[in-house]
Amino acid sequence: MKKLIIFNSKMNALDLSDWSENIKFNNAEFVFCPPFVYLENFKNEKLKNLKLGAQNCFWENQGAYTGEISPIMLKNLGAEYVIIGHSERRNYLDETDEMINKKIKAALETGLKVILCVGEPDKSMFAKDFVKDQLEKDLKNIHNASIIAYEPVWAISAENGKSDAPDDALEMIKFIKQLLNTKYKLQNTRVVYGGSVDSKNIQNFLKYEEIDGALVGGASLKKDEVEKICKMKF
Ligand code: 13P
Repeated sequence: MKKLIIFNSKMNALDLSDWSENIKFNNAEFVFCPPFVYLENFKNEKLKNLKLGAQNCFWENQGAYTGEISPIMLKNLGAEYVIIGHSERRNYLDETDEMINKKIKAALETGLKVILCVGEPDKSMFAKDFVKDQLEKDLKNIHNASIIAYEPVWAISAENGKSDAPDDALEMIKFIKQLLNTKYKLQNTRVVYGGSVDSKNIQNFLKYEEIDGALVGGASLKKDEVEKICKMKF
């Protein structure tokens, strides 16, 4: 299966005017998740090989929910994917597993592919228990999650620029896959790694067959980084 590289530009505006033309795509799949107000800017002919995703959605498709955006609205803007349960939303907005579970169901029902983020807050011996608990709650009564992004919170935008050790990420991803296969019968769910990934270290993760791709944050704001990653052979 092709590797899946997801760019999450978080709450940052991007000037695409000069970086669309030179991007060449290799045999991986690429999804770009800008703030939803910029989704339409990406529907540019030159970026047609990029699939689009959103960074969040609400769990209803319409109604009195001021400030929220629904899965169907995102789909109409061109999104095929949506990130749900990112740790920044869990932490800054107190998004709970119950809310995340409802969002996943609504997004899947609308036909969006869900990128569910899980990951432990600090590097500890309880990391697997933490992730297992998140998966249990987030995937309650869900039988076709699309993509899981394992993002150890301590490795996101790490001040020292340090990602997780690829071997440790591999071990957790194998654990997640085993859980998905045995407990949820979700054999085909792709599991990607996120947390301080850039053009210099991405190959260290993606060389493992079990790591199906990467979720890239900060590096997705830099045109040269995106270009480099898009040109790589995985
Ligand atoms: P960084 O790549 O900036 O660490 O962000 C990772 C992330 O949170 C992607 O969703």
